[in-house]
This record gives sequence, C-alpha cells and structure tokens, in this order.
Amino acid sequence: MRDRLLAAEKVNAIDWRDGVLYLLDQRVLPFEQTWRACSSAAEVAQAIRSMTVRGAPAIGISAAYGLAMAVRQRLAEGDDWEMALEEDFELLVHARPTGANLFWALNRMRERLMRIKEGEDVAAIMEAEAIAIHDSDREANLTMAQMGVDLIRKHQGNEQALLTHCNNGALATGGFGTALGVIRAAFMEGMVERVYVNETRPWLQGSRLTAWELAEEGIALTVNADSAAAHLMKTKGITWVIVGADRIAANGDVANKIGTYQLAVNAMHHGVRFMVVASSSSIDMNLESGEDILLEERSGSELLEVAGKRVGADVEAFNPVFDVTPADLIDVIVTEKGVVERPDTVKMAQLMCRKRLH
Ligand code: MRU
Repeated sequence: MRDRLLAAEKVNAIDWRDGVLYLLDQRVLPFEQTWRACSSAAEVAQAIRSMTVRGAPAIGISAAYGLAMAVRQRLAEGDDWEMALEEDFELLVHARPTGANLFWALNRMRERLMRIKEGEDVAAIMEAEAIAIHDSDREANLTMAQMGVDLIRKHQGNEQALLTHCNNGALATGGFGTALGVIRAAFMEGMVERVYVNETRPWLQGSRLTAWELAEEGIALTVNADSAAAHLMKTKGITWVIVGADRIAANGDVANKIGTYQLAVNAMHHGVRFMVVASSSSIDMNLESGEDILLEERSGSELLEVAGKRVGADVEAFNPVFDVTPADLIDVIVTEKGVVERPDTVKMAQLMCRKRLH
C-alpha cells in the first residue's frame, strides 16, 4: 500500500530549497496557491503565528527548518552564536501554544545540537536533522494510514460514511496526513462511500482545506455545518469519526480543533466509533491529563467577521480554538508506534516504550 499512497500524493505545503523554507499560504487557499518564502527564524515564527502554515506537525517541521536557518545565520555572525540562538529558539517555541509538535521538533533540534562534536559541520548537521524530522513525519503518516485502514476493515468493512473535522491532511503535515491519511487510504481501498467534512468554524479548515484536498483526489465528499454533526450521525449512517490531534496527554486525553469534544460525545451517543490519528510526536507524556494542556484562544473578531467584514453584533466573543476530548470517549488512538484501543495511562505508557519506527 505504501507505494500506492506515495504515488497518489498531490498536495505539498512545505518545501525546503537551497536553505530557504517555502510555505503554501493556507490563509488564501483554495482560491489562491501562493508560496511564501521564509529566510529566517523570525519569518518562520511569524508564518506560524499568522497561520500561513498551520496544523501541529507542519508547524513542528517548519520550526525545525527555522532553527536550522538560525544556526547558519548565527554562526556567520560570530562568537556568541549559541547565546543568540537561544533567542531564535524562544521566538519559535512561543509562536503557538497548543500543538505538541512545535516543542517536540525544537527540542529534538536542540538535543542534536548538543551532541555535535568538535570539528563537525554544525550548520549541515542541523539542516540534515530538520530534513530528517520532515521525512519521519511523512513516513509516520504512511504507517498510520495502513494501521487505520486495518482497523476500519476489522471493525466495519466496506461502504463507510466517515466524518472528519478541521484539516489534518497533506497541508497540516509533512506528507499524506494523519486522520486524512487514513481516510485517503481507506478510499483507495474502496472502503469509503462518502466523507462528511465539518466546515470547522471559524477558520474553515474543513470547507476550505480538507474539502480542497479531498476534491483534488476525486474523493466523494460533502461539507456540512459543524452543528449538523449529531444530525448526520443519526441520519446518514456515519460509521466512524476520524480526527487528528494537536497534543495528547499521558492518560490519552486529546486536544484537537474546537468542536472535537462535542463530536466525541455525539459519537458515543449514536454508537459511532471515534478514531484519533496522530504521530507519537504529538504525545506529551509530561502532562498527566488534558487538564494540563494549554488551549489557545484567538481574537473574537474571527467569530464576528467573515473575510475581514464585520457581520456579528458589536459584542464580546469567546474564541477558544482547541478543546480536550477525554480518553474515555475515544475508541482508538492510532500512532506510527502502534494502536491504542480504549486509551488510558497504562496503555499510553506501554505505547511510548515501543521504539519509534522512524
Ligand atoms: O489551528 P490549526 O489549523 O493549526 O489547528 C490544528 C489542526 O489542524 C487540527 O486540530 C488537526 O486536527 C490536528 S493537526 C494534524
């Protein structure tokens, strides 16, 4: 299946060429396909903050390239380069708070830096590490796609009606996608009748990005309002809700795009299975439960405006952009290290003891 998945890859949002990071601007998709060049850590941090690049894995990969650029630049500036690099690290690590991959990727870069020996080419090694982070995410996507398909086959077979939320596809990762990777692979296996895509208010990652990715591949899809999800579960024969994750705590609680929690509650009520797909770089074993996850809140104007035009009343708006789904509402978490059914603290710890495959 791996080769077939690779051959089907159409969308790519992160391109590293000649020491410059090119990002497909996700704020203007699907109407414009504009690439933005980032030549410094500051430019990458700004691209993350402004959501030019978004999706936890894509953010982590971009930050790794940002730090690689910073190493080369700081080395060229002179002696105190390691001190100066700390500033770049801090800038990048605080660009967005919730996704674990940003912290994971930057820490992996920092650990690699600390292992460099006298006389080695620091800049080249750091660039290679960023590329390795990018490649490993792509590989993880492929492994998870296969595992997710096996699960669907085992629990339900063909003719699936799937429901997904936000965008966790090629645009949000280094490759094929997490949840959307499973969905794309299941479609290739002839198992999917239709994918229902929550529009994902307020930023519309569903109707703008996921719908575009699926349509590019000729996958049958329908966009629906987020608030239609329970009704769809009742009337459209939804078999699985399949979502990604931005951070997973040690007990299996999952932070993902706002609206995921209510999907899980509704899925349990309707007997619909609930799958989370995320690589192990999204798992934060330092956090005991979802209570400890810092959830980003963005400006209320994102709710009260449409395409920059005020449509809501002149009032206060509360705009949390992630929520936490408790582990006991989740049927299965799929990672590249393996699958955890009915996640809990013990099973998550056992998973994390397994060797990372990439
Ligand atoms: O705010 P975003 O668009 O960066 O949100 C992140 C997401 O895309 C989702 O929550 C996603 O399901 C996890 S990232 C693969």
